Amino acid sequence: MSENQPQFISTEQLLAHLQWRYAVKKFDPTRKIASADWHVLEQSLILSPSSFGLQPWKFFVINTPEIRKQLVEHSWGQAQVVDASHLVVLALKTGVDEAYVDQFIARTAEVRQTSVEDLAPYAKVIKDFLNRMSPEDLSAWALRQVYIALGQLMTSAAHLGIDACPMEGFVPDQYDQVLGLTEKGYAAGVVCAMGYRDPADPYADYAKVRYTQDQMIEVL
Ligand SMILES: Cc1cc2nc3c(=O)[nH]c(=O)nc-3n(C[C@H](O)[C@H](O)[C@H](O)COP(=O)(O)O)c2cc1C
Repeated sequence: MSENQPQFISTEQLLAHLQWRYAVKKFDPTRKIASADWHVLEQSLILSPSSFGLQPWKFFVINTPEIRKQLVEHSWGQAQVVDASHLVVLALKTGVDEAYVDQFIARTAEVRQTSVEDLAPYAKVIKDFLNRMSPEDLSAWALRQVYIALGQLMTSAAHLGIDACPMEGFVPDQYDQVLGLTEKGYAAGVVCAMGYRDPADPYADYAKVRYTQDQMIEVL
């Protein structure tokens, strides 16, 4: 085990942060996430785990107000897209192929100071795994990875007292078109608006609707 254990938060703090967060409907458009905080949230995306560590994703941060305005009509008219401090489109990589695995293996060799040859058996396991999937299954698999990053981003934000609204209420094809994602080899997967809640957002006071522990957790 590493000697440099971080300072962990308490169970009470963790639960308080998870209770504090909610899917914000109305952001305060005047409040911006400080760049130091935003940098940490970007790190939370980069540090997200994925199957084999393949990271079949890219995170597009939409800072241009005109583009944000354009996206509203492709987001079921949801104002969070323009009012939030930051808007992230979590995109999946399309067409993950053997070349992509080779690129990942090269990166692993570089970071871990080993050789590509030593990693060849691992590369083969990954390629076999991917080659068993149809293109549709591959997209569905990549999208599942993207959702892990979404979860990590939202929880990280909650720990920092930063609000978020995860959003599936958008038209992926239209996002791809407006943002030029297809040419870049990506497809919009899910969106997250981030910033600070407007004190007038009534949703902040709504009780959380969750099933009971007995209904949701079964010990076998
Ligand atoms: C993947 C995903 C997509 C969602 N899409 C939207 C959305 O488009 N607009 C919205 O206002 N809320 C959206 N939500 C928020 C959910 O409605 C909300 O998380 C859920 O009702 C639980 O409430 P809470 O997050 O406030 O605890 C989404 C949540 C998730 C996880």
